Amino acid sequence: MPQGDGRFIVFEGVDGSGKSTQAFLLSKYLGEQKMRVVATREPGGTVTGEEIRRVLLDPQAEDLTPQCELLLYMASRAQHVGRIIKPAVERGHIVICERYCLSSLAYQGYAEGLALEEVAAVGTFATGGFQADLTIILDVDPEIAMERDKGPGTVEADYDRIERKGIAFQRKVREGFLEITRERPEKTRIVDGSRRAKEVHEEVKRLVADVL
Ligand code: TYD
Repeated sequence: MPQGDGRFIVFEGVDGSGKSTQAFLLSKYLGEQKMRVVATREPGGTVTGEEIRRVLLDPQAEDLTPQCELLLYMASRAQHVGRIIKPAVERGHIVICERYCLSSLAYQGYAEGLALEEVAAVGTFATGGFQADLTIILDVDPEIAMERDKGPGTVEADYDRIERKGIAFQRKVREGFLEITRERPEKTRIVDGSRRAKEVHEEVKRLVADVL
């Protein structure tokens, strides 16, 4: 069910899958159609959320337990949904967000091994059950994604704390996203993100048109 007059659209995918590019292209396109767009991301999107993001991605941070990570992502999300996303959707805006609850299921659940029902339950608590009208998963082989994101000749010092978990971790994340979609196909669409940005954008526009 669409929420108010606005819509909540989420991009998901492994690191480097092109979420930022697609979120930017979609925001620009909808803006040109005279729609009121709010573009945002997780972790982050609020002052407190950006502080939490800094802690989570800091390569110098101590070894965080998966439980601690989950709660930090969710704390950022609670503030984000309560103060930015939900009010904007209720005012009739189209909110375009990079990452939301499915990231926690894929990363902290499938890849880190936390129980999926527990991750989902914390997600419901953090968001008050506020869900996206459409989630687009940009599916890309993690190896291609990493290379595309960082370019050749990248050294480990260029990676954030999560990227340092490596390619095997990203593969589990990718499988997690695909599995989640298989189990809950409503409102979730997989898009082949390995194609040129322009082609991916054309498909994204078609999917978004169905929910506007
Ligand atoms: P992001 O900035 O989207 O990274 P990228 O642009 O490289 O895709 O996200 C930062 C990292 O946070 C990313 O590695 C995924 C991770 N993350 C989780 O593990 N759980 C979550 O719930 C969220 C929102 C992000």
